This record gives sequence, structure tokens and C-alpha cells, in this order.
Amino acid sequence: KLSNKDQRVRPGMFARATLNFGSKDNVVVPDLAIVKQSGSGDRYVYVYKDGKVTYNKVELGRRMGAEYELISGVPDNSQVVIAGQTKLVNGMEVEVEKLKERMQDVEITRKASMEFYAGTLEGKNVVVVRSGIGKVNAAVCTQILIDDFDAEVVINTGIAGSLNADINIGDLVISTDLVHHDMNAVAFGYPVGQIPQMETFSFKSDEALRKLAVQACKDVNPDIEVFEGRIASGDQFVADQGVKDEIVKQFDAYAVEMEGAAIGQAAYLNEIPFVILRAISDKADNSAEMDYPTFEKKAAEHCAKLVEEFIVEL
Ligand code: ADE
Repeated sequence: KLSNKDQRVRPGMFARATLNFGSKDNVVVPDLAIVKQSGSGDRYVYVYKDGKVTYNKVELGRRMGAEYELISGVPDNSQVVIAGQTKLVNGMEVEVEKLKERMQDVEITRKASMEFYAGTLEGKNVVVVRSGIGKVNAAVCTQILIDDFDAEVVINTGIAGSLNADINIGDLVISTDLVHHDMNAVAFGYPVGQIPQMETFSFKSDEALRKLAVQACKDVNPDIEVFEGRIASGDQFVADQGVKDEIVKQFDAYAVEMEGAAIGQAAYLNEIPFVILRAISDKADNSAEMDYPTFEKKAAEHCAKLVEEFIVEL
């Protein structure tokens, strides 16, 4: 209430009042970090922490040029993802992201829908890339590494299903050689797996790389069993005892996955040494579907640690 002593404030007069509501600090992110969910129109931001991304719903505040204020959804000092969000899913292991983070002088090249991170890691020139799933993606990726980045060595890691009762979830298989278990030209008299008109049946990994990989694994993952053996690849997630038995019978392989033979073949055609390192995520039988999400995380961690050490020893 204004006391208005002596009636000095009269009708028709104006006054200026200042109200202090205090101030609040909000997180500000680049607009590239904002993902709009089609359908609902809700906005999300991927936050990276400890090798994983989470998909956080956010409430947008003001736009300031190329940045947005966030009212809620992302903690202070978070690392937010500003590229390649379409390839991420909530809770996904982004172990290659870890490798990328540790790289220096990184230059990103996009080709064939893949992002090639070229830079240095442990003082070595490296290119880190996620090929995507399946043999075609893997072959295209390998050829780009060789053609555009002059790769002298190709190292591939990922997960695989075990084809051997002694090889358990969490163990590692390092390739001796690779076969395409889904190549079939039997009608022309070739054995299953043999690519017609090619001299070789399987694609052999480089011995020196194999030895280095075994050593690196023993150094960083001493509790994990390492096996060296054949890996069979096909454009098929094997989750059936009958299919598994057939692959074991035909190829005597230790593990099954979906890229290795294509990488091996591309490397072989270009005379580039390679090795495939796979952490076992499932048993490639009827239990595969159940085991897969549970152990994928553990498997991915083993591989990332191994590759880092491998690069030190290269
Ligand atoms: N990668 C991991 N597990 C696999 C499986 N069972 N079959 C094919 N690829 C795989």
C-alpha cells in the first residue's frame, strides 16, 4: 500500500516499479543436438556417458542463434550428441565412440552413409568407423578404408555367436580364417562356402596381427578366455540349433557372425592384412535371442578395451 503522504500521487500519474524474480541457469545445447520425434513432436537429446547414450526428453526454452536453452531433460555439463543420432538407440553401447573420443586431430568424412573418423590414437594414424550390419556394409566399408584412407591393416571387432560348447559368452574369438557359410554353388559342383572361380576357400587372417591380438587380450582382459579359430559369416542372425549344427558340420568354425568373411574377402582382394576379433554374445542356438541383449554390452566392452591395447602394440 502506498501511504501517499500529502496527496503527492494524483490520478493520471505514472510510476516505474522494478520486480526482481531472481535468475536461473539453464543448460544450452547446439540446435543440432535436438531430435524431433515424428508423430508426437516431442523433442529429445542424446546424452553420452560412460560409453552409453541415453535418449532424454527435453523441454525447450528460448532459441539463441544456433543454440537452444533447455528448461529440463539434460543435466549440467553433459556431453550431447550432435551428429549421427539416427544410428543410435537408447542405452546403446557406443564403444567405438569411446575410441573416437580418445583420438586426436580428428577429421570426419561421410561416405556410403558411414562416418569415417580419421585421426591419431596412441600416436598411430587410425580411422574408426562403424560399418553397419551385414556383409555388404562390411565389404563396402573395407574397400573405402583401403581406397580413401590407404589402410595398411584392417582390424574388425564386434560380437559373435559361439559354435563350440567350450567357448562361452564373454570369451573372445580371434580369427584364423573366415568363410561365408551362406555361399552355396553346390549345383555347379563346388563345396558349400566355396566362392566359384576364387582360388581360396577361406580368407586367412594375418599371423602377426593374430599374435598381437592374443597378446593384447591377455594384457587387458586376463580373466577372459581367448580362442583362435575359424569364423563363419552370413547375412543371418543364427538363433536355431539346426542351422547352428549345419554350420558346425560344414565349416568346423568357432564362431558365427555377419561381417567377418566380407571384410576378409575385401582385404584379400586388395592384399591387405586383417584380423577379426569377436566377443561372444550368445550361443547361436534357440537361446540366442534371450542372451543377446544381456551380453552384448559385456562383449562390446571387452572388444573396445582390446582394440585400444592392440593399437598401442601395433
Ligand atoms: N552376432 C552375434 N551373435 C550372432 C549370431 N548368433 N548369429 C549371427 N551373428 C551374430
